Amino acid sequence: MAQNIYDDPAFFAGYRQLPRQVLGLEGAPEWAAIRALLPDVRGARVADLGCGFGWASRWFRAEGAASVLGYDLSENMIAQARARTDDPAIDYRIADLEALTLPETAFDLIYSALTFHYIVDFAWLTDMIHRALVPGGRLVFTIEHPVYMAPAHPHWTEDEDGRPTWPVNGYADEGERRTDWFAPGVVKQHRTLATTLNTLIGSGFDLLRLDEFAPTEAQVAAMPELAVERERPMMLLLSARKR
Ligand SMILES: C[S@@+](CC[C@H](N)C(=O)[O-])C[C@H]1O[C@@H](n2cnc3c(N)ncnc32)[C@H](O)[C@@H]1O
Repeated sequence: MAQNIYDDPAFFAGYRQLPRQVLGLEGAPEWAAIRALLPDVRGARVADLGCGFGWASRWFRAEGAASVLGYDLSENMIAQARARTDDPAIDYRIADLEALTLPETAFDLIYSALTFHYIVDFAWLTDMIHRALVPGGRLVFTIEHPVYMAPAHPHWTEDEDGRPTWPVNGYADEGERRTDWFAPGVVKQHRTLATTLNTLIGSGFDLLRLDEFAPTEAQVAAMPELAVERERPMMLLLSARKR
């Protein structure tokens, strides 16, 4: 059973105040890099897995997608998404991606932002997504970068300039990682970059492009707290196509 930390009141109270939830996609520094990976969505049938507040779901429709199905485990997140959406072509549903079965060859694009690192059985999920896409259909997703996931946070230390001094910690040890972020004991699943890419290839995807997002100097000047993301990547962005 998935943890569903987004329905924890203390966690949600903190999470909902992040700039990316208050401001939407423009509050996410990596959004321009994600857009560069996305195909033309005009007329597309889209699924948004781990849709959260539905910011991307609404953006797909604004860009001309025919329909969007947004799935999320959290009642809090789905309630926020529904409250912000007035569009009969967007349908938000509560579902656990660990057990969701989408209809076969029903989607042109399956998108997911910052959700797959919560998933234990990634191969099961990518097999299911592959079946749900039409031939040539696209999977575009972001996850926490495995280099960011690998350090056990209790070992986090900084030098006097605020730069992280930790080494990558147990990078090859895949599986559960617990962090304290808005609430104690948030569970995520660490996989190496090789495992993530080989899982996609094994499910029948061609890899189109990867991005290890780093903020620009201008972004760092505007938001100095982003500087650490030029020291080590925090997010991995990936675009793949169903063979
Ligand atoms: C970091 S938030 C990202 C939300 C949204 N994609 C965005 O970019 O704003 C991760 C989301 O994944 C959802 N999630 C985590 N595990 C899940 C699971 N097993 N099934 C469905 N959704 C899940 C959470 O409830 C949360 O809404």
